[in-house]
This record gives sequence, C-alpha cells and structure tokens, in this order.
Amino acid sequence: MNDAIFDIKAVEYSYEDAVALAGVSFKVDPGESVALLGANGSGKSTLLMMLDGLVFPSRGSVSAFGEPLTEAALLDEGFSQAFRRRVGFVFQNSDAQLFSPNVLEEIAFGPLHLGLPPAEIDRRVNDTIHILGLDHLRERPPFHLSGGEKKKVALASVLAINPDVLLFDEPTAGLDPKTEAFLLQLIKEINRAGKTIITATQDLRIVPFLARRAVVLGEDHRVAGDGDALTVLADQDLLMAANLVHHHPHMHAGIEHLHPHSHVEGHDHHQG
Ligand SMILES: Nc1ncnc2c1ncn2[C@@H]1O[C@H](COP(=O)(O)OP(=O)(O)OP(=O)(O)O)[C@@H](O)[C@H]1O
Ligand SMILES: [Mg+2]
Repeated sequence: MNDAIFDIKAVEYSYEDAVALAGVSFKVDPGESVALLGANGSGKSTLLMMLDGLVFPSRGSVSAFGEPLTEAALLDEGFSQAFRRRVGFVFQNSDAQLFSPNVLEEIAFGPLHLGLPPAEIDRRVNDTIHILGLDHLRERPPFHLSGGEKKKVALASVLAINPDVLLFDEPTAGLDPKTEAFLLQLIKEINRAGKTIITATQDLRIVPFLARRAVVLGEDHRVAGDGDALTVLADQDLLMAANLVHHHPHMHAGIEHLHPHSHVEGHDHHQG
C-alpha cells in the first residue's frame, strides 16, 4: 500500500530540442506544501505538467494516489474523471488556461463538468468570485482582462473544483503586492484545510510563506536539494549552484565588491 500523493521515480523527459527532466525522484505525502524551486528552464513547469497527467515520462514513472499515472490510465474515463477531480493545476501562462466567453462561465466550467447539482455549482462559483474579489469582472471576457486579473480567474476556476491537490506554477508572477500577499495567505489556508500543494516558483522571497518543504531542480534537470524550506533557503552553496542566487555588486565604505545575493530578506540595493 502506497499512500503518497505522488511518487516520482527517476523521471526523464525531453522536448524535441531540449532536455527538461533528467532523472527526477521524490515523493509528496498527503497534506504537504512543497515549493518547487529552480532557475529558468530547469524543468519546473514540465514536472508540474507531468503531475497533472499532461505529459508523460520517457523513462521512470509517476504514481498518483498509489496508481500509475500513465497515458493509458488516463484514457480510462473513470480514472481520468476521478483524477481531474482530485488534482487542479493553475498554469504559469493564464492565456493557456482561459477559454470561456465570460468570467462567470469560466469559473462554472469545472463544477459543471463534475456533474454537481445547480445549487452547488452556484454556491461554488459565487464563493470563489467573492473570495478572489472578482465580482466586478463577472461578465467580462477573460481574454480582455489584465495579466493579474486573468491569473485570479484561473485560480478561481481551479479552486471552484475544490481538488485535494493543487499545483501552482508561478502563482504570484504578475500580481500586485496586495494580491500577492492575499494569495500566499490563501495558499496557506488551503493547505491548513488539508489540501496538498506544490508551488513552482523562482521567487525565494515567498517560499517561507507558502511551503514547509522545498525541492530544488538544478540546471542539470535533476533534484539538487530537497528538505525543510528554511534549511534549503539558508544553503547558499546549493542556491548558487542552482542559479537561484547571483553575485550582486554592492558598495561598502565606498568600495564595490561582489557577494552572493538571494533576495530572501529584503536586501537594500540603494545603499552607496
Ligand atoms: N514546448 C516546448 N518545446 C520545446 N522545449 C520546451 C518546451 N517547453 C519547455 N521546453 C524546454 O524544456 C526545458 C524546461 O522547461 P520548463 O518550462 O519546464 O522550465 P521551468 O523551470 O518551468 O522554467 P521557467 O522558470 O522559465 O518557467 C527548457 O530548456 C525549455 O526550453
Ligand atoms: Mg515554468
């Protein structure tokens, strides 16, 4: 009996012209909140797509809820329905996620396809619209909205499904500071309510607010580090090797020098 939410074993994946994952292994247990860290192109989005059953490993395997997550398994209507009900994915690019003529229909789409009673659909749609402050956008076409507004609608459309597992790909990118703080709080509350959460980000600043564990993908597309989030964030050598921190010129006593720089603790760039 395997009660992990995901069991990822030595997965490899390449696009036509690029390697994305080169032997990645880790497990995610129920109720965990995991930050998936890595520089641009390290494979975070590809891995989340794999956990959502949108791409499949060329080598290695992924199990979800104790069952192999394969193309063949997802061709089974029953398995696929159950899986889609349990796992929700908020894409990095909201444009790839939104397709309905207006915000209301966009958010209702998931609950409608779960076959829920109309009263329950209404309740979920209204609740998520209210939580995310989207009331004034109800009738607007999603593709006319600003980037941050689109992100909120994409979030609402996934939250309305009320899945057990939420995959967030750079959820705070493009959000204003107030919305970002709100979203981090929301992710924390969702996790407290028992949901399992995996959030891909390269914004180290937000990691302590959203996850207790961090998995780092290196530029070699393998796991470079995996452990307690604060311990990972304190590991300068690891962060440097994964290109998550950079050397940044600073003036001290009138002398410029380079030192590793992580943006974790609101560093002042303006001193001279
Ligand atoms: N559709 C695609 N076709 C070809 N190559 C791709 C495609 N999507 C991603 N890649 C390549 O696969 C590798 C991993 O990309 P991926 O998008 O998973 O990285 P990421 O960690 O999410 O990066 P970012 O921080 O920029 O979002 C990169 O080298 C990228 O160029
Ligand atoms: Mg990405």
